[in-house]
Amino acid sequence: MSQEKRIHHSGLQHKICSAEDAAKWIKHGDLVGVSGFTGSGYPKAVPGALADRIKQAHSEGEEFQIKVLTGASTGPQMDGVLAEVNGVSYRSSFNTDPKMRERINNGDTTYFDMHLGQVASFYRSGAIGDMDVAIIELSSIRADGTLIASSAVGNNQLWLNSAKKVILEVNSWQPAELEGMHDIWEVTTTYPQEIIPLRNPSDRIGVDYMTVDLDKVVAIVETNSHDRNTPFSPPDDNARMIAGHLMEFLKDEMKEGRIPQEFLPLQSGVGNVANAVMEALSKEDFENLMAYTEVIQDGMLTMLESGKMSVASATSFSLSPDKVQYFNNNIHKFRDKIILRPQEISNHPEIIRRLGCIAMNAAIEIDIFGNVNSTHIMGTRMMNGIGGSGDFARNSKLTIFMTPSLAKNGAISAIVPMVSRVDHASMDVHAVVTEHGLADLRGLSPKQRAELLIEKCAHPNFRPLLREYYNKGLDNGSMYTPHHLKEALSWHERFVDTGSMLP
Ligand code: COA
Repeated sequence: MSQEKRIHHSGLQHKICSAEDAAKWIKHGDLVGVSGFTGSGYPKAVPGALADRIKQAHSEGEEFQIKVLTGASTGPQMDGVLAEVNGVSYRSSFNTDPKMRERINNGDTTYFDMHLGQVASFYRSGAIGDMDVAIIELSSIRADGTLIASSAVGNNQLWLNSAKKVILEVNSWQPAELEGMHDIWEVTTTYPQEIIPLRNPSDRIGVDYMTVDLDKVVAIVETNSHDRNTPFSPPDDNARMIAGHLMEFLKDEMKEGRIPQEFLPLQSGVGNVANAVMEALSKEDFENLMAYTEVIQDGMLTMLESGKMSVASATSFSLSPDKVQYFNNNIHKFRDKIILRPQEISNHPEIIRRLGCIAMNAAIEIDIFGNVNSTHIMGTRMMNGIGGSGDFARNSKLTIFMTPSLAKNGAISAIVPMVSRVDHASMDVHAVVTEHGLADLRGLSPKQRAELLIEKCAHPNFRPLLREYYNKGLDNGSMYTPHHLKEALSWHERFVDTGSMLP
């Protein structure tokens, strides 16, 4: 489809300009809201042009940095280019770009990590100030001036409502057939808030377009640029074993009547393990699965096509390059089965609790008492952020965290005496799975949890060391949670000093 056909509003034609001209609307110190969620639907052209301006300003000794609020992670053409020129003084929330991660960890960029379902309410609280500019990727603009989002909805409508100036990128790489797949519903901004009328993942409660005051639109840039679509490596043995343990657990839960025959909506994180779980689910006898989740990955698309999954509700896609190509060429097969919502709705505690979701997310490390670290390497270095894992972990009917038992070629145990950072407290963690087994922690005391986690989930190389640590805690006077505080983080210290957690 040609570029012209994506911008149907005649009154906006004169605002079409180059990315360079559009970037001139952004000034040093501006708070900028951008579209994008897990590498989908982020602006691809204006950030690069802005980065050039910033680089030029820095070479002339001028200050030029912006503050950025996103949906979640973007891609190299957004976070990457701006990080390269040290162009971001403040960023929230979730990031996976390696260059931006470096800026965050060395302190060049102030990073505020937060639950993705709460970014909108955080902005509305006023604590961060007023939004100067929004840069929003669209798949098209209708003749009446309403806007069709692209492959992610994120916080787009709020940024469009709030920014003083709006820059639109209309990306013809995005299929025009995305029109009709979005469901935009805005929460009320006064309290008590209106009940969100969503009782089933397939419910449509809003409209399929976004709106903006057209007088605020200062520039429209046409692009034809692909999303950041990360390839998944095929599931390795560990991922397959994790998925296998999880399937057994889900089948048992169903046999016991704790999961109904019609199943419960699934939330799944992204990554290789999550994809292996989707693949395993597609081979089981479960029927009519539904997803109420943040992102739609490869495995879900496969299940939607085969009929195994009847509907997937999310706020964005996170597909491998092959799968995105397949999706774009066969979108008609998925149009009625996928609903993309604002992230405030996809991750809303009220709905997650009402639907009784099953949350399955990856962890960096988990301690013997069931506390989970999703964000920090060795307690100090930010990896990505908490993402939506907290929105789902606290509120789901069943919350499961998964990790291979070892990292860095066996130098690191993912099951540790004490996590170096707590993102999910043990009361939000119902079960833990590694390739060695699944520990069902529901209703257990810390001592019971420790015994189960060491036996079922830890790698055999680290089990004796974990038992030794636990016994020292018991010898200490056997408190409710038997820690040996002097050694609680000694494994992390040892890794930092020697490159291995093993003595
Ligand atoms: N200690 C130190 N490093 C560790 C580690 C540990 N215990 N466990 C994993 N790592 C490292 C890996 O070695 C890898 O490093 P590399 O990039 O240098 O190779 C990196 O962390 C990622 O680990 P990987 O095994 O590839 O897992 P992943 O891609 O599945 O990511 C999380 C795991 C936890 C980082 C990721 O799921 C995440 O960011 N989660 C938080 C957000 C979230 O849960 N969102 C869910 C809703 S979408």
